Amino acid sequence: MRCSAHKLFVALLMVAACAPTLAQRTYNLGSAPPADEIKALDHVVGPAGKELPPGAGTAKEGAPLFAQRCAACHGPNGNGGGVAARLVGKTPANAQKGDFKPTEKSATSYYPYATIAWDYINRAMPANKPGSLTPDEVYSLTAYLLFRNGIIQESDVMDAKSLPKVQMPNRNGFVPAMPVFPAAPKPSWY
Ligand code: HEC
Repeated sequence: MRCSAHKLFVALLMVAACAPTLAQRTYNLGSAPPADEIKALDHVVGPAGKELPPGAGTAKEGAPLFAQRCAACHGPNGNGGGVAARLVGKTPANAQKGDFKPTEKSATSYYPYATIAWDYINRAMPANKPGSLTPDEVYSLTAYLLFRNGIIQESDVMDAKSLPKVQMPNRNGFVPAMPVFPAAPKPSWY
């Protein structure tokens, strides 16, 4: 008893002694991110698209942009073959069952909501210069990927109103990892 109380006391002393050193440590690395860089990352778009900014674009407008800024990594037309994943996969006809192979899960047709593509591209792409695309460009690129996956037409205008309404073919292909207690029925495989 005495012994463990003693050990606890010593441990507390060590923590108390270290705390100021930890708080004061600086690494002299990097620099404070500029406000516009933070703004580009500090913007989340949910499934209903309420946070989408004004702007618009079509697949037609997205095609040359994709060739210029995306194809080097994702392959011509998003078909893969570059250093990053292919973004074109199953079309609506065969995307409904949710049976995507691991290599097919980067395709836009895998997403349950079209707004996910907008959010991801806006925040993280192109990987060599994230945050550098204008809202119009992100709408155009999202439209382009939706078109290439057979989900919308080439001239369909994507904006804050139309994008959340796009019916994604794999919308119901997802099941909860665990049954939600207590109401949800168990998935058949559980
Ligand atoms: C410098 C290379 C590079 C460039 C350029 C680039 N990407 Fe990516 N992209 C990546 C990497 C790396 C990932 C994440 C890992 C992966 O899925 O291969 C990724 C992931 C993605 C994803 C998510 C895929 C998923 O798994 O759901 C989308 C969508 C995407 N990129 C779109 C774009 C678009 C649109 C552009 C052009 C504006 C672009 N990328 C340019 C490298 C790049």
